[in-house]
Amino acid sequence: MSGLLDRLQSLNEQFREALRDARNADEVNQVHWFFTGYGGPLTKLLTEVAEGESPSERMALRERLLTVKQDLDNTARTLISRVEPGKQLDTRVTAWDPVQQVVSILRSARSEVAQITDELAAEALRTTYLGRKSELRSLLKSIGSLQEDERKAIGSASNDAQQLIADAIGQRQVQLESTRLADIAETEAIDITFPGPPIGRGHVHVLTQVQRQIETVLESLGYQVELGPEVETEWYNFEALNIPPGHPARENWDSFYFTPDLLLRAHTSPVQIRAMQRIKEPPIYIITPGRCYRRDAPEATRLPYFSQVEGLAVDKALTVGDMKGTLLYMIQSLYGEERKVRVRPSYFPFTEPSFEFDVTCGICAGAGCKSCRHKGWLEVGGCGMVHPQVLRNGGIDPEKWNGYAWGFGIERMAMLKHDVDDIRLFYESDLRFLEQF
Ligand code: PHE
Repeated sequence: MSGLLDRLQSLNEQFREALRDARNADEVNQVHWFFTGYGGPLTKLLTEVAEGESPSERMALRERLLTVKQDLDNTARTLISRVEPGKQLDTRVTAWDPVQQVVSILRSARSEVAQITDELAAEALRTTYLGRKSELRSLLKSIGSLQEDERKAIGSASNDAQQLIADAIGQRQVQLESTRLADIAETEAIDITFPGPPIGRGHVHVLTQVQRQIETVLESLGYQVELGPEVETEWYNFEALNIPPGHPARENWDSFYFTPDLLLRAHTSPVQIRAMQRIKEPPIYIITPGRCYRRDAPEATRLPYFSQVEGLAVDKALTVGDMKGTLLYMIQSLYGEERKVRVRPSYFPFTEPSFEFDVTCGICAGAGCKSCRHKGWLEVGGCGMVHPQVLRNGGIDPEKWNGYAWGFGIERMAMLKHDVDDIRLFYESDLRFLEQF
């Protein structure tokens, strides 16, 4: 290429040198034709574009030659208009114009190829530029009148152009195909026909589980579930249960008041009265689970809100043995038959006699360990034989009927079952805790 550039450079100088003596349009035309016409040195270069080069290198040479040719044309044209205004530069058909056309066809083909975005367009361009009715084909048909080596130069330019256009289309197709595959890889990575991940289903809260287990066990003994209001009157919460105003035991059940007469119930025991009033005629065998409230600060063993399950049996000639047997059955059904129970004398205004009810510790099986504070026993709640005055308050004749009752904390029972050591965990809604049950 550098040899050719040198030759172009000296041709240019020779051309200007030769033009220096031109006095009129004819002389300019002669010089111009000598250099650029058929057989002239510049045209020779065009017809001889090295055969060993690649199509794209040959194309670059042709473009270079075309620029120089244009330059010579302009110089000659300017000179004519100076020496003999009104005269024109002679134009004759030579290889230059068709080669220039080939070059511009190649240019527009390349820019169109760059813009296509799908396979169909690529095929269409192939037909337009390389098919039998292409511009290049009709160009070749129109050069019959030219000299043979000029026709060859045009033919070779056209062949190179076709080759380059075919290459461009091919490359673009490869590009399009790989973007298409990349798109597919991206969109189809999500298989929309694949079943979605299972929706995590929640489950019943551990306290509800324990409550339902208690209900199931006692229902199997013939007890019915009885519900009462959480907002109670003083009478049901206290007086009816034999706790008159000013009674020191009221302090154990201090709750939250709405009015002097209306409060959040401090235990489920008021439902004993409501059940007796509703059922009227014993035998009565009910349990009553539900939320209770007390004016206590939250700590590891107590909360101002908690749940109890109360039991009440009213029938003929019931004994502490009946009560203890019922509760033993309940405890062993819930915790296993290795558990033992015991009652310790206690005091409640609404039972006589009254007991605290204990279960052997599940961790040390009664031997004594840290979690039962080395007692071997854990307290579940209170129980006792229903006080005759309470039966009377419920509308039951204590001469004909007697009964027993118990009130156990559901949280306490859940803690016993699952060895939980802090009651607050049940209400913190921490899934790491709740999902264990
Ligand atoms: N209501 C008592 C309490 O909340 C428990 C209890 C119920 C005791 C029934 C005896 C009989 O502490």
